[in-house]
Amino acid sequence: MRAEFTENLITGNEMIDSQHRELIQRINRLLETMESSREKSTAVKTLNFLTDYVCYHFEAEEKLQEEIGYPGLAEHKEQHNALKATVKDLTEMLEEEEGPSDSFVAQLNLKVIEWLYKHIEGYDRSIAEYIYLTENPDRI
Ligand SMILES: [Fe+2]
Repeated sequence: MRAEFTENLITGNEMIDSQHRELIQRINRLLETMESSREKSTAVKTLNFLTDYVCYHFEAEEKLQEEIGYPGLAEHKEQHNALKATVKDLTEMLEEEEGPSDSFVAQLNLKVIEWLYKHIEGYDRSIAEYIYLTENPDRI
């Protein structure tokens, strides 16, 4: 299985969309790596590579919300923190195991990929809509 950047994930904000594309690429790199080798150190390294970008992207998205005075920032940050905690749990899980188990892959699918799809379609699209409406007040 691969994560996919489908049309319904487009928010219309160029920075957010391009970062989501990179995020999905890094998720897929992890999935591919685990398919070709169940070696623990490789999986940990690739998961860290994904985690780095998760943090970078969330920070950029939160900064953008601050800059535009987005009213949903606090709630959005809570969502980001929840995913960061999930990724930390997954890292611990991987470090405790011999290598990535089926259960690890299942959790990655459910708690990261599925979560991300819902988050993007809801929370992230709302930011882009807010920007659009601020820039086009006649549309309100
Ligand atoms: Fe977000």
